[in-house]
Amino acid sequence: MISPTLGFLGSLVLTLACLGCAVVTGMKARRRAHLSFVAGAVLMLGTTIFFALELGKLYDLESAGWITPVHMSMARLNTAAYLLPLVTGILTIRNPKFRGLHSRAAWSVLVFTVCTAVTGTVMLLLSDPIEA
Ligand code: HEM
Repeated sequence: MISPTLGFLGSLVLTLACLGCAVVTGMKARRRAHLSFVAGAVLMLGTTIFFALELGKLYDLESAGWITPVHMSMARLNTAAYLLPLVTGILTIRNPKFRGLHSRAAWSVLVFTVCTAVTGTVMLLLSDPIEA
């Protein structure tokens, strides 16, 4: 079985790569490629969350202090926020006038994702490892 650290870092990089390609193909209006990269990003995000939970078992996350509840709330909110580009993306397929709204929703969720990744990294750096 792949180590949680390697699995987490690998799937995080692949998630960010898929999101980057989703943005580029969305801006170029290459719909089929855009939707494929969005599907890839969702799949890799699920894998990242799986490994993040495994990684969390190796650390005493409570020892990091206030950042832990902040990051946990952000992570849950961030996952739910992915519904915004999904809904506005479906609206854009039905009616192109929603493209601007979809763009704003997508960028907002992307910025939020970066903030969540930063607080998660700080939380792990401040946590005490659990002795094996
Ligand atoms: C993480 C998820 C997503 C991100 C980051 C994202 C990002 C983007 C971006 C940046 C654009 C260009 C907007 C512009 O410059 O005006 C775009 C366009 C578009 N997106 Fe998304 N998107 C996401 C999910 C989706 C989903 C789930 C759907 C559909 C179910 C979708 C459908 C579309 C459509 C139809 C366009 C317009 C392309 C065209 O004019 O043909 N997107 N997206």
